[in-house]
Amino acid sequence: MEKYVLSFKPAIGEFGVHDPSAAIFRNGEILYAVEEERLNRQKHAAGDFPHRAIQACLEYPDIDLSDVDKIILPYNPKLQTKITGQKLREAASWGDSTVEKAYQLSESIKRLAIARFYPTVEVEQELRSHFDGPLPPIGLRAHHACHAASAFHPSDFDQALVLTIDGRGEYDSTVVWEGTHNGLQRIKTFEFPNSLGYFYGIVTEFLGYRVSNGEGKIMGLAPYGSENPEIESTLRDLIDVQAEYDVTPLTKSGSIRTGVEVLEEALGRERKSDTEQFTDWEKDLAFVTQKLLEEIVVDIPRQYTAELDTSNVALSGGVALNCKMNKEIMELDCVDNLFIQPVASDAGLAVGGGMIDQSPQSVPEMSTVYWGPEYSNDEIEALLQKNKVEYTEPAELSEFVASRIVDGKLVGWFQGRLEMGPRALGNRSIIADPRTVESRDRVNKYVKHREEWRPFAPSMLEEKADQFLVNQEESPYMIKTFDTDAESRDDITAVLHPGDNTTRPQTVRRDQNERYYDLISAFEEITDVPVLLNTSFNDHGEPIVTTPAEALKDFYGMGLDVLVLNDFVVEK
Ligand SMILES: [Fe+2]
Repeated sequence: MEKYVLSFKPAIGEFGVHDPSAAIFRNGEILYAVEEERLNRQKHAAGDFPHRAIQACLEYPDIDLSDVDKIILPYNPKLQTKITGQKLREAASWGDSTVEKAYQLSESIKRLAIARFYPTVEVEQELRSHFDGPLPPIGLRAHHACHAASAFHPSDFDQALVLTIDGRGEYDSTVVWEGTHNGLQRIKTFEFPNSLGYFYGIVTEFLGYRVSNGEGKIMGLAPYGSENPEIESTLRDLIDVQAEYDVTPLTKSGSIRTGVEVLEEALGRERKSDTEQFTDWEKDLAFVTQKLLEEIVVDIPRQYTAELDTSNVALSGGVALNCKMNKEIMELDCVDNLFIQPVASDAGLAVGGGMIDQSPQSVPEMSTVYWGPEYSNDEIEALLQKNKVEYTEPAELSEFVASRIVDGKLVGWFQGRLEMGPRALGNRSIIADPRTVESRDRVNKYVKHREEWRPFAPSMLEEKADQFLVNQEESPYMIKTFDTDAESRDDITAVLHPGDNTTRPQTVRRDQNERYYDLISAFEEITDVPVLLNTSFNDHGEPIVTTPAEALKDFYGMGLDVLVLNDFVVEK
């Protein structure tokens, strides 16, 4: 086995446009991984080459790029030629005049030729411009295969149905796999543009948010809506919803913009231009869209778990971030065990890329996403002193901070290694009291500056989670939604979805995050509630904070009351 494998997801050229990231593996184990957005501070880092993330990966074990035995790119541009016709049709639709159409067409042919014959040329140029020495050999692996490896290989399944669902890979949008000790076998491919990511993305844009960014907001809006037969029959007339789904009447142009126009025509309404307020009709559209997505996706495991004779399901791809949909899969009778790769978006391709050449059993079961940078107490103390910030170092940190939370304070909680993936899991989190609506409103008003209707999520001690969750199971990554026990709801009002009383918890064991576990326990000591409100430590529209300096800047720029940086506490 190679000693060092570097896998990274560029967002340039033929390699997709968003969520670049990098991960480094030593002897098959992940050592370090980070999204480029956390380092360049541009959310989703669209169009960027992840040179900062690669640099950080190399610095962690203190090696040079030339010490890497193999680079894996989790995308194989050569496969794009499987849908050459679609790509040329797309290109021809971009220009308004014949001259422009001809230009777009010739550009597209050029790009396809580069993808086919010189797929790594742009990546090699970028590597040479940022790093010294000879380049390691570069391998290309299919996009959906890397999503699938990121879900199956670190699960504890010997065999599973693996489902990867996103906007698009090189040519595919949904793939059904069988995972066994021999690896992954492709069972069924839904080729682009038959894309559930595009289906949901088109509605996201129709409702005023941006594709690849606002999908979670539409999912959050859905429970505020209700059944609407008129919208539903319009959408059902347009698309087929079952395991052999077909959404191409909406997505066939391959362009979100054109898809929105098709939807406008079908619904007889224009797209929304702002997201200040939502009418009942708009909430219903979110509700029905979510319902149809669930109907399609749930039907796939129904069919294929029987075919493959398994009740294990592993899930990845951007659509797997839809934790409401995940709840429906989890509750299926044919599914006993569900593992979802928490870095399900394209950023997680770097993780899958480092696993795909290994035998699935040799990949350790996933136990953490704390793979990013960390900062020592010495570094933090020097930063505080340099900025003339007064601080304390409480002997009983958990008790001290818990008492502040009980007093209604909003706490920036910065500890240890940065989380990879979209959720803050107690290392770069904003923490508040979960018990009251007032607490939730304070977080919205003073720190998050976001839509008031959007729900917050809890962190709870794993061994106490069954007090709150129906059909409780461990959920360390905040990627599954649960119904809540009616009798316990008063204790966690701030972290329920007001539309349907569901919640999207992080369950915490001490061996997963000792310091965070102790904080929740200390809060329980005072309140009898082993739960905290946990939202990501970032200001509106920013990526999650990475460095102590960013945390300090946000602390003063937001309405936080207390900032905890490792052992140190700063208060306003
Ligand atoms: Fe993807």
